[in-house]
Amino acid sequence: MQPILIVQGGAGDITDSRVPGKLTGIKESLRVGIKILENGGSSLDAVEEAVRSMELDENFNTGYGACLNTDGVVEVEASIMDGKSLKSGCVTLLQDIMHPISVARKVMEKTNHTFIGGESAMNFARTQKFEVLPQGSLVTENAKIALEEFKERQRKGLDTFFSRTELDKKQESVGELGETVGAVAIDANGNIAVATSTGGMTGKIPGRIGDTPILGCGTYADNEIGGVSTTGHGETIMRFNLAQRILQRISYKEENAQKATEDVTMEMTKRLVGTGGAITIDKKGDVGVYFTSKRMAWGYIKGNQLVYGINQGETFTEDL
Ligand code: GLY
Repeated sequence: MQPILIVQGGAGDITDSRVPGKLTGIKESLRVGIKILENGGSSLDAVEEAVRSMELDENFNTGYGACLNTDGVVEVEASIMDGKSLKSGCVTLLQDIMHPISVARKVMEKTNHTFIGGESAMNFARTQKFEVLPQGSLVTENAKIALEEFKERQRKGLDTFFSRTELDKKQESVGELGETVGAVAIDANGNIAVATSTGGMTGKIPGRIGDTPILGCGTYADNEIGGVSTTGHGETIMRFNLAQRILQRISYKEENAQKATEDVTMEMTKRLVGTGGAITIDKKGDVGVYFTSKRMAWGYIKGNQLVYGINQGETFTEDL
C-alpha cells in the first residue's frame, strides 16, 4: 500500500493575514509525518507527530496558541484512533499541557479506558511524566486579542460564534471559530489512524467540551472503511456525527472519499447552519477534502506529490 498522509489546520473565518502561517505550518506537519511513513513507520506514529508539530505552532488552535475560554484560560482536548484495533484515547479539559494528542495516545495504550477528562486527565498526564507548564504558558498575544474581540462583539450584541454580521466580518479579526488540527494516515500495511486536537472556540464557557475528543464526531478510524478528522463549529459537528456519517456513506453507499466528505459536510451545514470541514482517507487510499467554512487549511502527500489549499475551490500541487 502506498502510504498517504493528509492534515488539516482548522476551518473557519481565517483572515488574510493568517493564511501564510497556516500554509507553512501545514507543510511542516506533512514533512514531519510523511518521513515516518516513508521510513516504514506506522500511521499511528505519523498522525501523532503531524499533530504535535501543529500543537507547537501558534498559527494553529491547539497547544501553544490555542484559543481562550471566557476566563482567559486555555483548555485543550484531543483524540486518537487506531483503525486496526479500533482502540482509541480521548482527553478533554487539559490545561498547560503542550501536547494533548500524546496524552490521548497514552490513554489508549496505558489504560483500560477510552476517555478521561478534567482533573483526572491532568493527574493521568502527570503520572505519565508529561510536563505541566507554568500556568498560562500556552496563552499568546493573538489569543488574548481574539478573546477581547469576542467580548467586544458580545457587548455590541453582535453574533459571536459562527454566523457573524457583515459589519463584523469586515473587521480584521484574529478570532477562532472552532478551528482544530488533525491528521489521517494510511501506512504501508494498510493501517489507518486519525488524530485530532483543539483549543475549541474563543469565548467558550469554562468546561465546555467540543466535538474533537468525541469518537464519530471529531475523529474516527476503521481499517475496513477509512479515517476522518473534522474541524469547525463543534456544537454543530457533535450533533451531526460528522466523521461517522462520512464513513457510513463510504461503507453503505460505496461512495469515494471525496464525494462522501463533500456531500455529508454540505448536508450538515444545510441542516444545522454551522460550518466545518473534514479530511478523509478511505481503505483504497482515495482522499477526501471539503469545507463549508470560508477557509480551511489542508494538505496531503501521496506518492511524490504535495497537494494543498486554504480557499474554497483552490488546490495547489507541487512535485516533491
Ligand atoms: N471543532 C472544535 C470545537 O468546536 O471545539
